[in-house]
Amino acid sequence: MPRTPILLVHGGAWAIPDDMVEAHQRGVSNALSAGYAQLQKGASAVDAVEAAVSVLEDDDTFDAGRGSFLTRDGRVQLDALLMDGGSMRAGGVACVERLRNPIQAARLVLDKSPHVYFVGQGAEEFAQQHGMELIDNGELVLEREQRRLEDAQAKERAGLPDLTFAGDDKSPETAAELASHDTVGAVALDAKGNIAAATSTGGTLNKAPGRVGDSSLIGCGCYADNSSAAVSLTGWGEPIMKLVLGKWAVDRVQLGRSPEQVAPDAMAYLHKRLGGHGGIILLAPDGRFGIAHNTPRMAWGICDAQGPRTGIHL
Ligand code: GLY
Repeated sequence: MPRTPILLVHGGAWAIPDDMVEAHQRGVSNALSAGYAQLQKGASAVDAVEAAVSVLEDDDTFDAGRGSFLTRDGRVQLDALLMDGGSMRAGGVACVERLRNPIQAARLVLDKSPHVYFVGQGAEEFAQQHGMELIDNGELVLEREQRRLEDAQAKERAGLPDLTFAGDDKSPETAAELASHDTVGAVALDAKGNIAAATSTGGTLNKAPGRVGDSSLIGCGCYADNSSAAVSLTGWGEPIMKLVLGKWAVDRVQLGRSPEQVAPDAMAYLHKRLGGHGGIILLAPDGRFGIAHNTPRMAWGICDAQGPRTGIHL
């Protein structure tokens, strides 16, 4: 019997300022519309998460695609992963600089390659060979982000704390308050009962070129398996990676715990174990879901039989 499709999306978890709330909710709402339209016409969960995340990458509100944070040397460097819980196929790209929509390159890896993961120039060439346009990195760079980078580097020179890379020696609450994490993601359940997950990011402000965060690493910022759940995370990547937090969460769903309980537990574990902060969306193949964050705000949205809802708090 066909399932009622479900789509969840997120647009980052941090202290989203009041004057940015509307843009975040509008972006999340546009992503829900694009992704859910796919599900309503019978497309797969993979199609839905790709469509939703493409919209978020195209929206310069978020740290994904155009408008992302800049590397230390002023470039946009993007990571993305997409995973199909029905087939366990996955596609990831990291450190790409010339692709407008890295999630679409990740989809090409999933569909057309025996490999799972491409980085840098090899990823760009693979995408180009399969029809994607390579653009100039400057097209992804906003003046807003150049100013933000200048500010961060001025603070660095002045010896002020770099909250983007807040470590165990800094208060995670302070870091969560000030550092922004606008990584985007989606999880979906389609009418055939398959689930999928996608996550895309520009990473952290002032990052070293070549740095890869959690978002595009399987089991860290993204994972999907029909025998457990689909998950997408946002937040401070290094602690999420060390805990392989996406897999941690779906494994608990597989053991019988509800996504509604596991999502806040994952955030509590992240904070308790490594002082990390972020947000999570988690969806089981039976339609149960969880949303949680340990930051002041998180941009999230869901669309199911009851229609679309978005929020900035839980
Ligand atoms: N969560 C995004 C990153 O740390 O790269």
